[in-house]
Amino acid sequence: MTHPCDMLVFGGTGDLALHKLLPALYHLHRDRLLPADLRIVALARQPLGRDAYRALAERRCRAQVARTSFQAETWQSFAERIDYFAMDASQSAHYGRLARHLDDAGPRGRIHYLATAPSLFEDIAACLANAGLAGSDARIVLEKPIGHSLASALAINQSIGQVFQESQVFRIDHYLGKETVQNLIALRFANSLFETQWNQNHISHVEITVAEQVGIEGRWGYFDKAGQLRDMIQNHLLQLLCLVAMEAPVRFDAEAVRNEKVKILEALKPIAGLDVKDRTVRGQYAAGKIGGQEVPAYYFEKNVDNDSDTETFVALRTEVRNWRWAGVPFYLRTGKRLARKCSEIIIQFKPVPHRLFQDGQANRLRIRLQPEESISLQLMAKSPGKGMHLAPVELDLNLAHAFRQKRRWDAYERLLLDVIEGDSTLFMRRDEVEAAWRWVDPIIGGWHAYYQRPRPYPAGSWGPEQAHSLLEQQGHAWHE
Ligand code: BG6
Repeated sequence: MTHPCDMLVFGGTGDLALHKLLPALYHLHRDRLLPADLRIVALARQPLGRDAYRALAERRCRAQVARTSFQAETWQSFAERIDYFAMDASQSAHYGRLARHLDDAGPRGRIHYLATAPSLFEDIAACLANAGLAGSDARIVLEKPIGHSLASALAINQSIGQVFQESQVFRIDHYLGKETVQNLIALRFANSLFETQWNQNHISHVEITVAEQVGIEGRWGYFDKAGQLRDMIQNHLLQLLCLVAMEAPVRFDAEAVRNEKVKILEALKPIAGLDVKDRTVRGQYAAGKIGGQEVPAYYFEKNVDNDSDTETFVALRTEVRNWRWAGVPFYLRTGKRLARKCSEIIIQFKPVPHRLFQDGQANRLRIRLQPEESISLQLMAKSPGKGMHLAPVELDLNLAHAFRQKRRWDAYERLLLDVIEGDSTLFMRRDEVEAAWRWVDPIIGGWHAYYQRPRPYPAGSWGPEQAHSLLEQQGHAWHE
């Protein structure tokens, strides 16, 4: 940004702002990575004064960054950047007051971070425009989900597009800010080693798992209407799939990278109508144990209807219909209240064409995003001693150790800096979001048409039994 800049955080008292955005900004401030004149203005309905908001933010940030050392002095200087303005973001009359409150002495850049429900996006954009807060130097950051269907995403994108140019719009998917996700790009496009193997001649199948131990953590209102397909597959898992499957972009910049990702989304084999029975599994957690603690079933969680048929687990099989990937199954799996927190991508190579040895397993590349960030390649090696017995061994790269990293960057830190610097390479373009919904909508349609109610699975397990059959039918198995 050329001018001093304000970051306006709509939904300033919400969980995202207090739990993720402010701690990320605090870390960036501590590492002197924020522009000196960046002011943070939190906006929400609660009638708080600036000091009360700062105290609230401090409490939440202390709890959040305690593990990585909270420094009271640093907080003091960071808190001076924070302002609070009480307003109802759905009321256009409040924006005039906001503009006056901002009380600019000279030109200021604006970053509008919409950490609110997507149902407010269109109104907020229009009100910003009317109040003169959406000039050509402004940027808008939209949190996922962008809508809850293709139609609603189109409507949101259309309204936002009437106020902001596409280059001013930053649609965030925090998975793209994770270090290992960017390392996947480096692995593929900065090393020639894998490229000759990265296709249907050598790869048997790809698994992408994002497993969480948490339930819905007080987000009933949102989650019960969304479900795991919209909450995780439409964005995070499809983004990971795109990075595994895309062709090398001509340049590492926003347009070139996103052009390649869109091609993959458009090449995904549709899952429509009766396909949902064979190629998807929906689940919902029942009571069970997580880390030795009893946890209730999803429908016993507060505010959830007893007969809610919202899924908390999805597994599915798709393919990318192009020359590189024809015939290679891509298995996606994600769920809440599963056995472990773990996000990883498995590239399972085909076995050797002719077996010389009795023991043998095909090579497997594992790219792990969470809990630790690592890349490991399983190779076959000779066991020490007599005879020629082989055993799998791991060539293991722990990225934090390799770079002697003292602290792990949170995805939001990287992405917030990119917004400030105006780099949208790691953000979703309008057509990408729409292509993802175009593929997801028919799955939801199929579930409704064929009454695919979620199958119960015990909390603390790996999901419904049928998720295993989905792979077994093809002679494959989830790597656990
Ligand atoms: C969010 C989803 O986008 O990602 C949550 O809305 C989910 O439901 C979260 O828990 C998972 O993120 P992470 O970074 O903890 O894997």
